[in-house]
Parts: sequence; C-alpha cells; structure tokens
Amino acid sequence: MKYVIGIDLGTSGTKTVLFDENGKVIASNTVEYHMYQPKNGWAEQDPKDWWNAAVKTTKAVIDESGVSNENIVGVGISGQMHGLVMLDECNEVIRNSIIWCDQRTAAECEDIENAVGKKRLIEITANPALTGFTASKILWVRKNEPENYAKCAHIMLPKDYVGFMLTGEYATDVSDASGMQLLDIKNRCWSDEVLEKLDIDKSMLGTVHESPEVAGYITEKAAELTGLKVGTPVVAGAGDNAAAAVGTGTVNDGDAFTTIGTSGVVFAHTKEMSIDMSGRVHTFCCAVPNEWHVMGVTQGAGLSLKWFKEQFCQDIIDKTLANGGNPYALMDMEAEKSGIGARKLLFMPYLMGERTPHLDPDARGGFIGLSAIHNRYDMIRAVMEGVSYSLKDCLSVLDEMGVRPKKMLACGGGAKSELWRGMLADIYGMPVSIIESSEGPALGVAILALVGAGVYSDVKTACAKIVKLKETQAANAENTEKYLAVYNIYKTLYNHLKEDFKGLAKLGE
Ligand code: XUL
Repeated sequence: MKYVIGIDLGTSGTKTVLFDENGKVIASNTVEYHMYQPKNGWAEQDPKDWWNAAVKTTKAVIDESGVSNENIVGVGISGQMHGLVMLDECNEVIRNSIIWCDQRTAAECEDIENAVGKKRLIEITANPALTGFTASKILWVRKNEPENYAKCAHIMLPKDYVGFMLTGEYATDVSDASGMQLLDIKNRCWSDEVLEKLDIDKSMLGTVHESPEVAGYITEKAAELTGLKVGTPVVAGAGDNAAAAVGTGTVNDGDAFTTIGTSGVVFAHTKEMSIDMSGRVHTFCCAVPNEWHVMGVTQGAGLSLKWFKEQFCQDIIDKTLANGGNPYALMDMEAEKSGIGARKLLFMPYLMGERTPHLDPDARGGFIGLSAIHNRYDMIRAVMEGVSYSLKDCLSVLDEMGVRPKKMLACGGGAKSELWRGMLADIYGMPVSIIESSEGPALGVAILALVGAGVYSDVKTACAKIVKLKETQAANAENTEKYLAVYNIYKTLYNHLKEDFKGLAKLGE
C-alpha cells in the first residue's frame, strides 16, 4: 500500500492528514496558531508559526500511524490564499505575513488600477484590484515599509513558504498564484505586462507549476525535522479552495461546492475560462490542469460564528471544555430554538469587509432589527442565516454569468452542522450534499500528490475512484419561500448603509 500526506495550512491552524492510496484517513493532527489584528481591518500571521505547525503535525501523523516513510510516496500542501510572505537573501522571513482577510490596501488597489488600467487588469488577471489579493499587499509594504521592501529577495504565498522550507524550491501552483493578481490567468504564467507596470521584479517570484506537478523533493534538513524520507516528492499543491474542489470531486462542468470555513466560498468548476467583468466573483486557474473555476467569497463566514461564540458564549465554551464536545453543536441547538428568519433579526456578516458581491473593504457587520424580545438563540440563528444569505449572493452572481451548477456540495467546518446545511439547501432552493470524507483541502492535495507520484494517471480519474457521496439534504419549498422573503430584505441592507460604512472608515483610530 502507498501513502501520501496532505497538509492544509488554514487561518486558524494547520491540519495534516496521512492518507492511504484509496483516500482513507490513517492519521490526522492539527496545530492552531494566532491571527494578529494590529488595527481594525488588518490581519497578520507569523510564517514561522505555519512552518512549526507543518513540522509538528507531519511528524505526529507519521509517528502515530506507524507507516514507514519508505511507503509515503508524496506530499501535497494546500493553503489559505493571497497572504504575502517576504524573505530576505538569506531566506529569513522579513515581517509577519499580511494575510487574505487584511483590508488595509484600498489606496494600493487604486494605484494598481491606475498603473495597469482597470479593463486591462481584468483581461489579464481575470479580477479587479482587490485588497485581499497579494499584489496590493506588496505595494503597501513598498510604500509604507521601504526598509523591509529593500531587503526582499523572495515573495511567496503561505503554502509555498512551507513548500520552500520542505524542498528548498521557490515554487507555486497556478491556482494559488491566480490570487496574487500577477498571473496571466488565460495563459497560466506570470504576466510580464502587469509585473512591469507595477515595477515588481519577476525574479522575486517562484516557478509556476500545474497543481499535480512535482515542485521539489524533501531536503535532508526537512527530513530530520518531519520524519519524511529525503527525496520524497512534494507536488505544487493548490490554494485551499482549488484543493477543496479536488477533495470533493468538484472537477467537471456543472459541479460546485460551498465552503463554510473562516471565509465562505461558492465555487463552480468551468472547463472554459469565464469572467465577470465587474469583478464580483473571482476567476482562477483550477487544480485540474488547463481548466478554471469561478468563485464568490464571503469574507466572514465561520469567522462570524466564531466571533459570536468567543464574545457571547463563554458559558458554552466552558461547558464543552469541561465535558468535552463541540461548542458549535450546542450553538446549533440554541439556533434551532429560534425559527426561520430568527424572529425578524438579520445579521450582516461583513466583519472583515466584503468581497462578493460588494467588493468593499470598509463594509462592516451588524445585527439589524434587534428588539427587546430577541435572545441569544435568535442571534446565533441570525449569524448563520446572514452568512447563508451572503453565500446566496455569491450563487446569484454565478447565475447571472450563466454558470449554473447542477450539483452543490457543502464542506468546511460549518458543513458539519446539519442545521447549516439544511439552511443552505432551503436558501439556495437546491439540494445540498456532503461527501464521505470531511478532509476537503487536505484530501484534495493528497489526491494531487497521488497523481504527482504516478499512482493515478490524472486528477479526474483519481477523484472518480476516491471521492464518494455520503448524503443529500433536499430543499423544502415552504422554507425556501420563507427565507426568500427575509433574503429580499437582507439584499437591500448593504446599499442603505454603504455611505455610513465609509463615514466610519474615515473616523480616526
Ligand atoms: C479566497 C480566500 C479565502 C482564503 C482563506 O480568495 O481569500 O478563501 O483562501 O481561506
């Protein structure tokens, strides 16, 4: 039997899973780390925390499984996208990574559009300039921390930093590189035009590979630290969403999934490239060579419920800490006690600004319709519903583009909740399924590693063999109608408050 390792470098922690060649989980280990928020709307993490977590979890799964490293034929890494990692000439990290949900770069996005031209930027990178993406973060450091920029010899994405530490190679894959806003999405290579216009030196960027290609091999030092064998191939891997697509078998036209992780994503596979010229959803290269995907992003999905849990559910946290169990399962039970529409309470999940459909880093969250009758049950339910409405916004933009999924899967931490999945099915008005494996991105990159190691001929064949459907929740037409009435009000809220969000953003610290 052959084995592979999938490392998923998330925002709240890194999860590493050892799979056998049939995709069965043999061992799994997670290490959590911090997200620093030095200012309102800023978000940073320490790349060294990612590396330490990758080392610790890889070592743990190998030790725990008892599998000989001789039989581990490949490693794949998936990661939170867009984060900026800068290394100096000696490969030392220069500053904390400015990560995907950081919103500080509105001015630099304007600079990018002025330098490249709004239309031309979308033609090449398939997306408008976005605060979440890496290019504006690079420009921010150059403008605000010139001493750091002067030291910078290498620019890389979060998972590619871990890949570099494992292999010594400066490399990336097309799906993750798509989120840097420096890639020519159609031709799947760095765009000389964008790089020149933004004055970014191409030599700072890694080699771009298709996701299942081998990007490097485990070095002696990495082998010593992790327990992997020297020379084990590491595939280029994929951004977390492209990896989740492979891990859920979303690899053909008509396939789609919704992730409720820290962020929320509605992702649809497209064999041909398809762009929303107003930039409300992203078009990226996918992990299936020479195919693409479109996706809408809700900045604060699981993040919103986690925020609510941490601020208002200390008793639940204490109870589950004392008795074991999952705090979110107790929160689900409370939300069930409210009803559809959370007794006329709405929640806007814009805690970290919003991408789809508003593209507004200044947007902020809110409960609307609070009355003295409301309690925590309603508030938890409103948060879950608000996130689901925001995901429905993503699906609506895909629909406008003519991308109409025939199937919808759910994945990510939030998809473990039967209540939340049912809510999605009712709000979307379509059945929502889950697959047997809940490993999403980790399984996705493990599949890529199996393809890279030659165990399977290609990604689609591997997915057909490994990914199995578990169950489907149908939409209830009566509920769909009730949710629609609330969604129609939700949809108008942002426009009513847009100018107020701008006003808030202008207030001093
Ligand atoms: C996608 C995005 C997030 C991050 C974090 O564009 O920003 O999904 O990858 O998970």
